[in-house]
Amino acid sequence: MTSKSTGNYRFPEGFLWGAATAAYQIEGSSMADGAGASIWDRFSHTPGMMLNGDTGDVACDHYNRWREDIEVMKRLNLQAYRFSVSWSRVMPDGRGAINAKGLDFYDKLIDGLLEAGIEPLCTLYHWDLPAALDDRGGWLNPDIADWFADYGQVLFEKFKGRVKTWGTINEPWVIVDGGYLHGALAPGHKSAFEAMIAGHNVLRAHGAAVKRFREVGEGQIGIVLNIEPKYPASDKPEDEAARKRAEAQMNRWFLDPLMGRGYPEQLKDVYGEAYREFPQEDFDLIATPTDWMGLNWYTRSVPENAPDAWPVRARPVKQIQHAHTETGWEVYPPALTDTLVWLHEQTGGKLPLMVTENGSAGYDPPHAIDGRIHDPMRVEYLKNHLKALHDAIGKGVDIRGYMAWSLLDNLEWSLGYSKRFGITHVNFQTQERTIKDSGLLYAEVIKTHGAVLDRL
Ligand code: FCB
Repeated sequence: MTSKSTGNYRFPEGFLWGAATAAYQIEGSSMADGAGASIWDRFSHTPGMMLNGDTGDVACDHYNRWREDIEVMKRLNLQAYRFSVSWSRVMPDGRGAINAKGLDFYDKLIDGLLEAGIEPLCTLYHWDLPAALDDRGGWLNPDIADWFADYGQVLFEKFKGRVKTWGTINEPWVIVDGGYLHGALAPGHKSAFEAMIAGHNVLRAHGAAVKRFREVGEGQIGIVLNIEPKYPASDKPEDEAARKRAEAQMNRWFLDPLMGRGYPEQLKDVYGEAYREFPQEDFDLIATPTDWMGLNWYTRSVPENAPDAWPVRARPVKQIQHAHTETGWEVYPPALTDTLVWLHEQTGGKLPLMVTENGSAGYDPPHAIDGRIHDPMRVEYLKNHLKALHDAIGKGVDIRGYMAWSLLDNLEWSLGYSKRFGITHVNFQTQERTIKDSGLLYAEVIKTHGAVLDRL
């Protein structure tokens, strides 16, 4: 689908190839060795919230099998591994006392990665808020900015010199839209009033952690945003207004204040009486400069005006001319190039970017046959998105790395184990790992620094 714009897909020197995961999606044993519960433990144990009643109690059993998983990473030729830390494993109450055994798990993992020559990229928060903090209001409580910075400090100090690249928060929009507006994700609230406040506190917490990092940490820090570009459905003014509302609510709500521009004006129109004004000092904190930005990218959408769609009043038009993944997401690689160019411009052209997640769920065979898992749709997806990424580099965007989502099949949040995103298959009965065809291709891409794409 992507045109060969350069015909030479060798990536720049130093470009970092890796794969990503998140704590609750893979670790299992979330209450082991003195850890506290997170909102995802609670949510997944609440009847009706998870598809098939799935939970992360065992997941990929990575908590016990991390050594084996590093071996998988080695076979994939990974140069980097992006993982997240479970806050309540390290601080069972979210504040105060540290659980030494929980911290030790990440300590050993990081040492294991470094021994294997794999660079650890550490995300502080990938959605698993300590339940004890949720009891105090969670993201609705303004004190969370300090709680988060204090938690961050524990990691910054412990892993100083070993972790060089840090991410504060994974996908603020999903935390807020899923957790506080539509309620499909933990903690499952449904309120535009809450969403405005939670979103603001997520951003403040990010700012507070970056400030603390400058005091006690070492290395590079940034945030990870999901940006899903919004393409025009028609040239009707009402569709263009809907497109702008969708872009503001999903992409600019978090990007604009991080860049010192405050909230986009369309957010008022989207949230109406739930819209809130906040003091300038909050916006100053939120816009504390960072060293890099992560982009999680899966698809685009084409929104049209839909007055009954709450609260954005826009609904995506299905693009039936293109393939869709198992999650129903359109496969449209050129939009990755466009997004990277757009993000480069929106961030002032100087902030280094990294693709911190990209991947697809497909109809994989349920188990390996002769030691192989054929996943032709994911192979296509990977190949075409790497070409689209290369096109963006060709257009002058400073992109430092690519992290495939995901290293392993895992718990896809409230969709449970029904959607497989891994480049490595996990048999959830036996916990056996099998590198899929997409993983084999990725290993070859890394080995040849992209040059193998020339032949594909
Ligand atoms: C992203 C999440 C990640 C995973 C992928 C499919 O929004 O960051 O944890 O669930 O989607």
